[in-house]
Amino acid sequence: MDGKALETEALAAIEAAASLDEVEAARLRFLGRKAELPQALRGVRDRESGMALNALRQKLETALDARRAQLERAELDRRLAEETVDVTLPGDDLPYGSLHPITQTRRMVEDVFVGLGYEVRDDREVETVEYNFDKLGFAPTHSSRSPRDTFFFGNGTVLRTETSPSQIHMLEEREPPIYMVSIGRVYRRDAITATRYPIFHQFEGLAVDEGITLADLKGTLLHVMRALFGPDRRVRFRTHYFPFTEPSIEPDVSCGICGGTGCRTCKFSGWIEMGGAGMVDPVVFDNVGVDPGVWSGFAFGCGLERTAQLRHDIPDIRALWEGDLRVLRQF
Ligand code: PHE
Repeated sequence: MDGKALETEALAAIEAAASLDEVEAARLRFLGRKAELPQALRGVRDRESGMALNALRQKLETALDARRAQLERAELDRRLAEETVDVTLPGDDLPYGSLHPITQTRRMVEDVFVGLGYEVRDDREVETVEYNFDKLGFAPTHSSRSPRDTFFFGNGTVLRTETSPSQIHMLEEREPPIYMVSIGRVYRRDAITATRYPIFHQFEGLAVDEGITLADLKGTLLHVMRALFGPDRRVRFRTHYFPFTEPSIEPDVSCGICGGTGCRTCKFSGWIEMGGAGMVDPVVFDNVGVDPGVWSGFAFGCGLERTAQLRHDIPDIRALWEGDLRVLRQF
């Protein structure tokens, strides 16, 4: 075997290889099992020719490696030059979620009251009979105390039926002046219909200061209703009864669908009921140790679902509780 000739031929072939496939072909041709050099190596009998052939094999392997590396680098350079990323192309759409309409409404209500300087409270939903009824002045015979109306747990606890217990907690924890709004879930044993659901939310306002009057209540509710439903809203009061306010009233807001002329939503009255309100009853002040000779205040409670329904024109309250994405995606 002519080592020198083989070397020249092999190195030329490796150098000429224009792709990784051609490099591999050259390797098989010169170093493959049946190629001349490995065959010769297998037949070697003396040390000297063995070393010479091994050196040649090494040289060819080095040349193959070098050519392979060269081609790979050239390929990478080509791709870097050609396959640039177009950062102006539109990306993939991310599936955005959104806040539930009740949460959106809750945050809006919070914003309105924070803007008035009120602090926001979030009280417990499992309440004692004492805070849910007794300290709010509910008579022992009041129908809300019946297990037909209220969820009782036994040992003197209930699922709160309104956010009004927050009034008691607040008045017990802090000296007036107090301006707070308490928002959260309440529970009543009502059958599920288009307008009632046994779980719902209320926002409860309480303002206690020196010289607070019914006019302040009316002005506050007017401001809140306009912030929630638009600047053209009007507010009116109807007399009512609640155990913990005196006098008690029910505020109505003018219907936004018909502008007050009467339509199906407002049952052709031009007004929509917003909840309950009134001046804090002196009995409540007595129960929490606040002097009614010095302090006066008003309180009100409104439904959050009702607020969301009116804002978004949702005819059936159940839509707010079913988690149907076809509904929720609209908000
Ligand atoms: N808690 C009353 C209700 O749920 C509403 C209310 C709150 C009335 C505050 C007066 C004062 O019906």
